[in-house]
Amino acid sequence: MITIKSSSQLQNILEEDLSKNEKIGFVPTMGALHKGHLELVNQAQKENKVVVVSIFVNPTQFNNPNDLQNYPRTLDYDLKKCEEADVDYVFTPSEQEIYPTPDKRIFDFGLLSKVMEGKHRPGHFNGVAQVVSRLFDIVKPTNAYFGQKDFQQLAVIRKMVADYNYNTNIVACPTVREEDGLAMSSRNKLLTPSHRKSAPLIAKTLFAARNKMQEMSVKELTNWVITEINNDPLLEVEYFEIANAQTLKPINNWNDAKNLVGCIAVQAGEVRLIDNVLFKTDN
Ligand code: PAF
Repeated sequence: MITIKSSSQLQNILEEDLSKNEKIGFVPTMGALHKGHLELVNQAQKENKVVVVSIFVNPTQFNNPNDLQNYPRTLDYDLKKCEEADVDYVFTPSEQEIYPTPDKRIFDFGLLSKVMEGKHRPGHFNGVAQVVSRLFDIVKPTNAYFGQKDFQQLAVIRKMVADYNYNTNIVACPTVREEDGLAMSSRNKLLTPSHRKSAPLIAKTLFAARNKMQEMSVKELTNWVITEINNDPLLEVEYFEIANAQTLKPINNWNDAKNLVGCIAVQAGEVRLIDNVLFKTDN
């Protein structure tokens, strides 16, 4: 495994693979690696000759300065995990390396970036698009791997790739969960023991909701999920929306779209958790 800080150095190294038409798999991360990230690496290794992992806590995607400051940073541990996983290159750029000048680009992803996370974290997806486009320009990956836990992020990145003609295939990997159902996230490390105990109620409720589709209207089920989770005094739902899984447009009736996703954000003390569940798919 080689750790590289400079984008030009990484580009020089990857140039040889690109010239031989070798497949480059890319796993962009903000570090604090967990099993979910390692699953992305594993998938990338199956489908590519070379695997690059980036570790960069991207300031432009944080709408809250405290959140940026408190975001877990565990570089030594992350490098050890990448080494154990036999990653080829780990890219650990500085902020200066990614943004030599302030990134003023404004992306427009329409509704996809305006609902749910987009509404509650203004500017978040613009920052994600800034960093992911910059990283794609450097790495020029054949395939890039993202977790389905960040459902809306995946939709936004797919749109970015389509709108800006990136030659990268986006691969979505299933959410990896703790044994008690909690979706793995770097932020889980920040939960207090009592919030950690309460947090699995989020996934439990989402899965239970899937079985109640026949009994309730969309509105009733939405309210049921919110009430169920808010019944725990340590959890507070910020939003829960059932939407068309392609456009993310909220639906009113179960037949409004073939693919439906329920997306949720919950405040657990100081930590904001997100999760989602597919309600209906056409395959
Ligand atoms: O999902 C994440 O960890 C980040 O949003 C990403 C895609 C690495 C961009 O900073």
